[in-house]
Amino acid sequence: MGIVEEDIARVRAATDLVEVAGEHIQTRRVGRRWVGLCPFHAEKTASFSINAEEGLYYCFGCQAKGDAITFLREVEHLEFAEAVERLASRAGIQLRYDDAREGQDRKRRSRLIDAMEAAVEWYHQCLLTSDGAASARGYLRSRGYDGDVVRRFKLGWAPDDWDAFSRALRLPTDVLSQAGLGFVNRRGRHQDAFRARVMFPIYDTAGAPVAFGGRILPGGDGPKYKNSQETAIYAKRRTLYALNWAKVDVVTAGEVIVCEGYTDVIGCFQAGLPRAVATCGTALADEHFRTLKNFTRRIVLAYDADAAGQAAAERFYEWEQRYEVDVAVAPLAPGTDPGDLARSDPGALLAAVKEAKPLLAFRLERVLAGAELRTPEGRARGAQAAMSVVSEHPDVLVRDQYLMQVADRCRVEPDRLRAALSSTSRRGRPWQQLVDPRRQSDRGGPELEALRLAVHKGDEVVHRLHEVLFADELHLAAFRAVASSATLREAIDAADPGAAELLQRLAVEEAHADPDDVLNLIVHRAGERALHQLEAEVRASEERGPELSRAVGWLKLTLERLPDPEAASALVAWLAQWGHNRG
Ligand code: UTP
Ligand code: MN
Repeated sequence: MGIVEEDIARVRAATDLVEVAGEHIQTRRVGRRWVGLCPFHAEKTASFSINAEEGLYYCFGCQAKGDAITFLREVEHLEFAEAVERLASRAGIQLRYDDAREGQDRKRRSRLIDAMEAAVEWYHQCLLTSDGAASARGYLRSRGYDGDVVRRFKLGWAPDDWDAFSRALRLPTDVLSQAGLGFVNRRGRHQDAFRARVMFPIYDTAGAPVAFGGRILPGGDGPKYKNSQETAIYAKRRTLYALNWAKVDVVTAGEVIVCEGYTDVIGCFQAGLPRAVATCGTALADEHFRTLKNFTRRIVLAYDADAAGQAAAERFYEWEQRYEVDVAVAPLAPGTDPGDLARSDPGALLAAVKEAKPLLAFRLERVLAGAELRTPEGRARGAQAAMSVVSEHPDVLVRDQYLMQVADRCRVEPDRLRAALSSTSRRGRPWQQLVDPRRQSDRGGPELEALRLAVHKGDEVVHRLHEVLFADELHLAAFRAVASSATLREAIDAADPGAAELLQRLAVEEAHADPDDVLNLIVHRAGERALHQLEAEVRASEERGPELSRAVGWLKLTLERLPDPEAASALVAWLAQWGHNRG
């Protein structure tokens, strides 16, 4: 159900973000801001800042940002409506819900989820009770799945029939096909998407069923697994199987185990590791990390050793930095997956997860284990192979730690390895470049200073600024949003994500600079940029030379007159016209 917009605004206005944040972290006052240790990433110095008047926060370490609602959602993993409800009850506000205004998307989504819920239940009952499911029950028993496991994971059975499901549920055609549960066949009849498969229902993080993975029985036809197509409620690249169940243990244990398959997750659960999830027929990638980092900073890959060894290490290192997570690998023997191991030797699975090593350590170990370290030639080759693995890591300090291990094992002088490492160029990718470049941007620069003033002293400053004064695209976008909105919140909502983030950050910084100085500086800079361009054009164009030279002369004189306010406004007007003429 949708909460009435007006009530959401009332809740925002009535909520003291400093107080809400104070229930999760310690904050202290610094000037006009409040700062504390960020609850969204591990840190030792406080980079989490709150602007109490605006009710906004921004973390300079991890770029987490938002208002009281986002804060509560992210800290406690709530849905938007849940977070608003909590804040409303704190503030003693009675919320009104508005079904009529509920968005189309939301309605469509809930129709599909209702259909999925019915499907999960129907397939589940088929497995538990239907005659046709006897062989499926036998197969699951043979894999060690008892009734508890079947019920806990809501496993099901899709009968060996082309339309048993469609006939039983009689879903409207659009719902059937949009949920990926069936389709209209050539004879115009409803046909099931899944046939003769053990069904593993897949839920979103909040616990709504969104898809299925269907496994054939041994000896059956077709691919081993058939997965739901992508739908309005199901995006593979974002979804992690079983996270809905695992999240509690993930948070308590401080780690998540990532497997390749549904049965690996169930095996982990049976072995006493209820914090396992799996990707759904895709590789672990960006959006999965974005989801996982909200729950934990430690990600343990439980892949078969060959799969883990082939994982694209450099991308994992990038994700480690971007999302500030640590990726470790549980050492499983080649050809062994957690599902199998849970059955044959659950203790070994527990031990492997416990002994998980950083990805680089794991990769290095594999290379060195395969090297012949008893001969000088073998050690030299081993050192070379090991260093090529070490060189993939973007952090020079980390590389150096592992370099010493290689030196030791292969009996080579560390300095020799260092020299070799720095000559094998890292394709011009010092690690800073992997970090969000905006993180490096300092307080400085007149454009940023002007924006900071526009955010904090809008009434005084915004009308004196102009788009032409911003050379940087991000700054320009942020300025446009501020200039065209009545309030900072509106500006943030209207801006694209990059500019919105910048505005959020500026909102928690302090604007000490004198507006006159900043305006003068930014106008001066813009004038000089135009002057350089004009002079280049004069050199390049003989025909228009005289006309352009006159403009150059005027520009120089006007720049001389700054900070005279009349000169400044004439200059801004000229720049706007000039920019306009140039299209
Ligand atoms: P595996 O082939 O390793 O299967 O595929 P598994 O998980 O060990 O399953 P069991 O234990 O043999 O029953 C791992 C994952 O890859 C995807 C599925 O998500 C599966 O869980 N997969 C595999 C497919 O999408 N299609 C396939 O045909 C095979
Ligand atoms: Mn398996």
